[in-house]
Order: sequence, then structure tokens, then C-alpha cells
Amino acid sequence: MAKLLIAGGAGFIGSHTTLLLLEAGHQVVVLDNFSTSSPESLQRVAQLAGSSASARLCLVEGDIRDPGSLDQAFQTTSAPCDAVIHFAGLKAVAQSVHQPLLYWDVNVGGSQRLLAAMERHGCHTLVFSSSATVYGYPDRIPIPETAALQPINPYGHTKAAVEQMLADLASNEAGPAASGPSRWRIARLRYFNPVGAHASGRIGEDPLGPPDNLFPFVSQVAVGRRQRLKIFGADWPTPDGTGIRDYIHVMDLAEGHLAALEALWNEPPQLLTLNLGSGRGHSVLEVVQAFEAASGRPVPYDLLPRRAGDAAESVADPTEAHRRLGWRAQRDLATICSDGWHWQSLNPEGYGSGPA
Ligand code: WQD
Repeated sequence: MAKLLIAGGAGFIGSHTTLLLLEAGHQVVVLDNFSTSSPESLQRVAQLAGSSASARLCLVEGDIRDPGSLDQAFQTTSAPCDAVIHFAGLKAVAQSVHQPLLYWDVNVGGSQRLLAAMERHGCHTLVFSSSATVYGYPDRIPIPETAALQPINPYGHTKAAVEQMLADLASNEAGPAASGPSRWRIARLRYFNPVGAHASGRIGEDPLGPPDNLFPFVSQVAVGRRQRLKIFGADWPTPDGTGIRDYIHVMDLAEGHLAALEALWNEPPQLLTLNLGSGRGHSVLEVVQAFEAASGRPVPYDLLPRRAGDAAESVADPTEAHRRLGWRAQRDLATICSDGWHWQSLNPEGYGSGPA
């Protein structure tokens, strides 16, 4: 059993990963300020995990930009922290364009404070939530980890900046300042499009306000919370004219985090950089059709012009993650939609509704 600090553990991916970590027998401390998440998600994680496992879950409400909150989270038990998984950050592309300083403060400043706290508490193993957004407009499809990092919005810039911070920490270049090989064990996981929900329907994606992303918007139209879907662009150079993305089930993503942790613990200090995607692309219209089939509900839509900053296609080359971790996404689009609908139909208003 290890002791883990999960920064942002009440969020969509964080809550699903926290559940798997508890089920794997680990002790989990969640630090979250609930700025974009709900404490209810962790209540339900505890219920799903069961009483003995949930006894290993501890919550610290606080901000990763606050050194006091970070110290409190590291000191919840006398046991040292064996690793940190860092989900805490803002991820709305459009919001980042309008509020770049907020994104640099939270995503980069917060990460710097977290890393400094890790140093203070002698913890040098980190799994970082990065994003395919760092690739910007991809030069080729599928996208390998060696593709150029050319982010096109402040959100992507902040993720690339933290990746660089982590590369500097992991660097074991000899030199007068270096005290020898780096002790840092770091995985930078570049998510493609996280979607779906835990099969129980008890936890899932619950965006604040109108969803920016396709999947939760489609889901909210199907359940009757939104009237119509706006499809941004039907004139892309794709088979049906709509944008193609690599949708990865959140449970596949969570399993990828546990596999990355095992690799960091069982191998010498290293910097792992891996795409977490399915390697399969689906268009907007394919997602709409799959969700209608899974839910039995219509998803009416209107075709609008392209959205600024969008690319025609973004699909992962996931072979490196399979080679290094033995991991690959198992769940297909039909499963993503049926699990996502199960969550949404039981929780039409997200965590603000449904059985507690
Ligand atoms: C997918 C497709 C849209 C909404 C984002 C961000 C970031 C990242 C992954 C973490 C595109 C189309 C969308 C809608 C639509 N997460 N669309 N109508 O832009 O690929 O990536 O999610 O890092 O949040 O980079 O995801 O779901 O916004 O768009 O037609 O109402 O759906 O044009 O083709 P995206 P998305």
C-alpha cells in the first residue's frame, strides 16, 4: 500500500482515478478547492469504494497555490507521501483566451507551488495531467509524442510550460549546480478527449455551466437539460465534414494513471511522456449517432461555422504508452456513450441532483 496525494481529486478524472487507487489498496489524500468540482463526487467515491477502503480516503480542502494547504495535505498522516498525481488546474480553452493570467496563475503557479511542496516533503514521484492541446494544429495524424509542441491558446501554453518545468526537474545533466542524477520520477500524460463515466452511473463528468466540450453537451441535450447541439463546422476535410477527435473513456484514462505510477516506482528515475488516447478517431456526427443509439433519445443539432482554434482532426498514436506501460484503451465509443448516458440519466443536474 502506498500513500498518494491527489491534487484535484474531486474532479472528473481525479475522482475516477481516486476510486481505482482506493480499490487497489492505497491510502489517498485529496487536495481540492472545489472551484470546478463538487465534494459530492468524493462522497460517492467513498460509497463505491466501500467502508474499509474509504477509511483510507482523506480530504483536505485547499488551493494548490497555498503552501499552507499543501503542507497540510502532505502532513495528514505521519507516513511520507509516495507519489503525487496532479490533476488540479483549469482546462477551458475559451476561458483561457479571455483570462490568460488566471490560467498562468493556477496551472503554472499552482504547479510550481506543488513541486516546491513535494521537495519540502521529500516526495519526488509525480504523474502530471497534461493534454494533447500542447500539439496545437498537428502536423500529422496520428500524433506521436515526438510531434512538435506548438500550442495555440493560453491553456495549451500553460500545459507546455509545466511540461518544461518538469523536464528541468528531471534533467540529470551533470554540472556544477547539479548534485548528481535527478531523483525525480515523472510521467507527463497527454490526454486526448476524456469522456464517459464509471459504469455504476454514480460518478461522471459534471461541468460548471454550459459545457465547452462536445460529449457533456450532447449528453445534456439527450437528457433534456439543453435544447439543441451546435455543431461547429461541417466543412472540415473529413469524411462527413465534422471534426474528428480521439475520445478516451475516463476509466481507461484512470487505469493509465495507475500503470504510469507502477512504471515510475519500478524503474529508475526517469521522465516519461506518453499520449493517453485510444488511437481511434470519431467525428462529431458519429458521436451524436452513437449517443442517440445508447440513450434512445434524439440529439437535435444545428450546423454552424467552425469554432476558432479548432483543428479538423486530432487522434493519438498510443503505441508508446502500450510499449512502456503495457496499457491501451479498452472501451469503445458505444461503451463510452452507454456509460455516459447511465451517469447523465441518473444525474440530470450532475452532482446537484440524483440520489445522494
Ligand atoms: C470536440 C469536437 C468541436 C462542442 C478540448 C480542449 C481541452 C481538452 C480536450 C483537456 C470539435 C466539436 C464541440 C460543441 C461541437 N481537455 N464541438 N459542438 O476542442 O478537441 O479539446 O477537450 O485537456 O478541454 O482542448 O474538445 O469536446 O471541445 O470538441 O461541434 O458544442 O466537437 O468543434 O470538433 P477539443 P471539444
